[in-house]
Amino acid sequence: MSEWEHEPGRDTGTLPEPAPRPPAPEGGPGPAPESGRRAARPAPGGSAAPAPEHSLPRTSAPVVLVTGASSGIGAAVARRMTATGDRRLLLNGRDRKRLAGVAAASGGTALPGDLATAEGCRALARQALEAAGRVDVLVANAGIGYEGPFETMPPSVLDEVIAVNLTSPLRLVHALLPAMVRRGSGHVVLVASVAGAVGVGGESVYSAAKGGLCVFADSLRHEVRTSGVSVSVVLPGVVDTPFFERRGAPYRRRVPRPVPAERVAEAVCRAVERRQREVFVPRWLRIPARLRGGAPALYHRMASRLA
Ligand SMILES: NC(=O)c1ccc[n+]([C@@H]2O[C@H](COP(=O)([O-])OP(=O)(O)OC[C@H]3O[C@@H](n4cnc5c(N)ncnc54)[C@H](OP(=O)(O)O)[C@@H]3O)[C@@H](O)[C@H]2O)c1
Repeated sequence: MSEWEHEPGRDTGTLPEPAPRPPAPEGGPGPAPESGRRAARPAPGGSAAPAPEHSLPRTSAPVVLVTGASSGIGAAVARRMTATGDRRLLLNGRDRKRLAGVAAASGGTALPGDLATAEGCRALARQALEAAGRVDVLVANAGIGYEGPFETMPPSVLDEVIAVNLTSPLRLVHALLPAMVRRGSGHVVLVASVAGAVGVGGESVYSAAKGGLCVFADSLRHEVRTSGVSVSVVLPGVVDTPFFERRGAPYRRRVPRPVPAERVAEAVCRAVERRQREVFVPRWLRIPARLRGGAPALYHRMASRLA
């Protein structure tokens, strides 16, 4: 079994089959394709607003919205989604040029914008629905890092780390979830971090934001358990992307070793296909996370040696 394969019902938490889908509401968008699957589905009918010029053709392919798609993991998710299935990709990032490059390479539609504000998140949800009529899969991946002592962290940076890593996924889910629940299908993937499972020294606010995503997912899963909507959390360790350069502090630890963004992208796609609850990348990182929960004293002794 490879690092990416997960035994159903074990620690990666494959979700139980969802409840049968209720019929779509009158005049609603109709049944949506199952998240990330290739099977042909009926085309959505009766979408409300007329399509704007930049709209994609309304086909039965699942609509996948990926944030943080202009770089690193998000760009790799876009490439992999395109390579492995018939999907309509909506891609968000701030850097228009890089985002346009990823969109061109993956056949997706660029929806540039800043997610650090409530209006930016609302605008993205609105544009996604205008462009494609619905969102079947949300991959909330945009994120920024910060390393340094908490005491001296500039308050504006603290706000930004929380806004991008934690608040923006919550806002996007808040905007897009009701329609998924109405359709009786949909999938939310939250890209967190192992830092959100164990807490990393010098990354307290980043860890808090990612930890918040993990418990948000656990909580939300309870709420939607009979709705046909699935929630996955992907927790990468260290990934070889411009993330560290952008946060202004290189990665210095010996372990975990950086993995390519493509491995995380593969995990994201698999989490959607198998409706996995929680996926660590690489998989062995679930061990310190479990150890912290089950034997905290031992975990803290080991962690302080590796720090
Ligand atoms: N790299 C790692 O070692 C690692 C480990 C664990 C978890 N993660 C998580 O994985 C996710 C992707 O990170 P990455 O490694 O791919 O880093 P990256 O290459 O720096 O990509 C980050 C992405 O987030 C976008 N973004 C940042 N701030 C934004 C904002 N205010 N509004 C909209 N988009 C914004 C960036 O857009 P622009 O570039 O266009 O600004 C970029 O597309 C993040 O959530 C990160 O926390 C990364």
